[in-house]
Amino acid sequence: MIVLGIETSCDETGIALYDSERGILAEALYSQVELHQQYGGVVPELASRDHIRKTLPLIREVLERGGVERSAIGGIAYTAAPGLAGALLVGGAIARSLGMVWQVPTLGVHHMEGHLLAPLLEKQAPAFPFVALLVSGGHTLLVAVEAIGRYRVIGESLDDAAGEAFDKTAKLLGLPYPGGPQVAKLALAGTPNRFTFPRPMTNRPGLDFSFSGLKTYVLTTVQEHTQDGVLDTQTGADIAHAFQEAVVATMVIKCRRALQHTGMKTLVIAGGVSANLRLREELGRMAAAEGARLYYPELRYCTDNGAMIAYAGYQRLAAGQHDDLAFHARPRWNLESLPPL
Ligand code: KG4
Ligand code: ZN
Repeated sequence: MIVLGIETSCDETGIALYDSERGILAEALYSQVELHQQYGGVVPELASRDHIRKTLPLIREVLERGGVERSAIGGIAYTAAPGLAGALLVGGAIARSLGMVWQVPTLGVHHMEGHLLAPLLEKQAPAFPFVALLVSGGHTLLVAVEAIGRYRVIGESLDDAAGEAFDKTAKLLGLPYPGGPQVAKLALAGTPNRFTFPRPMTNRPGLDFSFSGLKTYVLTTVQEHTQDGVLDTQTGADIAHAFQEAVVATMVIKCRRALQHTGMKTLVIAGGVSANLRLREELGRMAAAEGARLYYPELRYCTDNGAMIAYAGYQRLAAGQHDDLAFHARPRWNLESLPPL
């Protein structure tokens, strides 16, 4: 079965073709970063308009590059939520219209399930059950995964998401959007231990996260060291370093706890922040010490992409699940409420 995947939840138009026999056949990703950069973050209305311009041409391009005739497509998957309402509506409307014209089933996919299943696209894929740390710009979730659609959220952020904390820190350090990769790059030049930031919520039991205090810590440190409106480059790097170490250490502590609580021996990380090399390194070390193994998607499948939506959609479409005639707009959608296969 070949499934066309369409991702338009935020500032990336991602299109991909997944074939259950051959894997990803072709994919395309258009990033709107330049469009939003001048505003320091995503402008929802501009995002929707740009998805309207890009989605159909990219679908055409991917079909051509994959050498796939329309008649070979068995289903269409699109991101239904969570994300920016207008941006989601564009992808949903295009997917469902094509589904009607091509007479194939369509399915609205949960964006975080897309991230969660992305590591299964790898040759060395994790086996169920596993603990998943989903860290994106909008969410920080620890999930006990028994199988596709059998998810138990065992921890989450009570305020900012991990990626959001990276993005806000970047802004405070005068770095462009999106800030995660920029902070990570700057941190490489940081002096270890010049600053030590707190590891939020690690002293009490539980698996929830909180990152907003860390952001305040960054803010006050930046203010203390700014002279005549200037923060010197080395101090900026030292702050980026301290921030990243605090986030990584916090996640290591929570993931170790999650492995111990569930008794599971497989840890999976996914979502934009799973591209962070320090996070991968330290989680890998912790997993090894726990007799567990760490899995993550390749870099291009960490951040938003069409392949993860095509893949997650395929799993459900192949099991006979598909949209009904109603068009749902879902600003909120609980991962735990998804049906099993
Ligand atoms: O999953 P994603 O592409 O979009 C959402 O679903 O939100 O995640 C984007 C987030 C942004 O906050 C970005 O700053 C962060 O992932 N990010 C990183 C890195 N690459 C992307 N954060 C830390 N280190 C990175 N290397
Ligand atoms: Zn995402």
